[in-house]
Amino acid sequence: MLRPLVSLIALSLFFISSSAFADARGEMLFGQHCVACHQFGGKGGIGLPLTPEKMENVDDLYLIRTIQLGRPGRVMPAFTELNLDDVRSIVDYMRSASNTKSVVFEASHLSGNPDRGEGLYHLHCVTCHAEDGSGAGEGTGVTLSRHRGFMVMPPSITNPGFLASASDPILEFAIKHGREGSGMLGFKDVGLLDEQGVADIVAYIRQMGSDQQVAPPLPEDERPTITIESPYDFDTTVSNVRQSLVGANFRIFPDRYLEQGLLDEFMVNKRQVGIRFCNFNELYGMLAIEPRVGVVLPCRITILEQEDGSVLLVAPNLKVVSRWFNNDNLVRLWAAMNEGLSSIMEEASL
Ligand code: HEC
Ligand code: HEC
Repeated sequence: MLRPLVSLIALSLFFISSSAFADARGEMLFGQHCVACHQFGGKGGIGLPLTPEKMENVDDLYLIRTIQLGRPGRVMPAFTELNLDDVRSIVDYMRSASNTKSVVFEASHLSGNPDRGEGLYHLHCVTCHAEDGSGAGEGTGVTLSRHRGFMVMPPSITNPGFLASASDPILEFAIKHGREGSGMLGFKDVGLLDEQGVADIVAYIRQMGSDQQVAPPLPEDERPTITIESPYDFDTTVSNVRQSLVGANFRIFPDRYLEQGLLDEFMVNKRQVGIRFCNFNELYGMLAIEPRVGVVLPCRITILEQEDGSVLLVAPNLKVVSRWFNNDNLVRLWAAMNEGLSSIMEEASL
């Protein structure tokens, strides 16, 4: 009698802890890959807000594809290095953190007419989404170089990554009900468009999108991170990087394991470490040029031991990151720092 009860308790404990573990993994991956641009809690930053209201306007497939495909040519990267399980755990985490569920949309039974849609698009949408749907104004998300006239920078709605991620019903839903807190009205809710008008605009957006070239994959030096494989084992690589940094007059801060603070101490993978360093003159120079650089962490080299024992050194590619700020002085300073960072990584893996 007691036995089944005990194993039932054990079983439910197992499920509770395995789902808590899945959540912790999703949170860790979100922290590692998304927070720099989207922040925790859905506020948005360099990236668009991911509020609970937004999460109620999209299905999981949209989120999964957005993470996998990104927005080629825009700031949102394609996370090709994450496998489907990782992507799913990020999406599960986003669902549980926002307390929302994937939405099931009803497809419109109307077929849209792109020619009529073009007229309506010009009447209602160009001021924010531009002639070709690529988004008006400079800057991204809610923080960086945002044109004061916009609460949120309008995204590209003809980007191939967006159109491959969003189904017609998602497009219709966004146009009918708008996006809270962004200045974009619910065009059907306020009576500016009816069902047919919405379907016509969606047909026109698809037509504009099909005219756009799909961007080729980024060349190596245009990717947001620099990755080098080390010929040494993990511990030797870590100590080489420290030595090169000290040699280049950097002050080093205590190391942080990537998963530190997100997982129980005994589960943290100690073979993934971020070495943080700083040259205070450079840092103050940077902050004087652009006070918002605090949102990214330029001074960090991450060392990862992979399952097959090989060791990778990863650092942000400052040449690419600096462009997010639309600031020529910063671009010049970081291009110089990038050279320094690359040579430290090369020296450590000589
Ligand atoms: C380098 C900055 C950056 C990173 C890193 C980043 N994003 Fe984005 N994200 C953006 C920007 C910018 C957009 C808006 C796209 C546009 O401007 O067309 C966006 C758009 C999105 C959207 C679409 C939102 C909408 O309104 O439909 C989702 C969902 C999203 N990102 C999720 C993620 C997730 C999850 C991660 C981590 C795996 C991530 N992003 C990492 C910058 C980023
Ligand atoms: C006042 C400016 C403004 C106008 C006018 C406007 N939009 Fe938007 N739109 C935005 C902003 C800003 C967002 C992103 C909001 C967010 O994600 O938080 C957005 C988001 C969208 C999205 C979802 C894109 C994504 O990445 O999630 C679609 C689709 C869209 N708009 C279509 C339209 C259409 C079609 C019209 C005209 C009928 C229109 N918009 C008019 C500002 C505008």
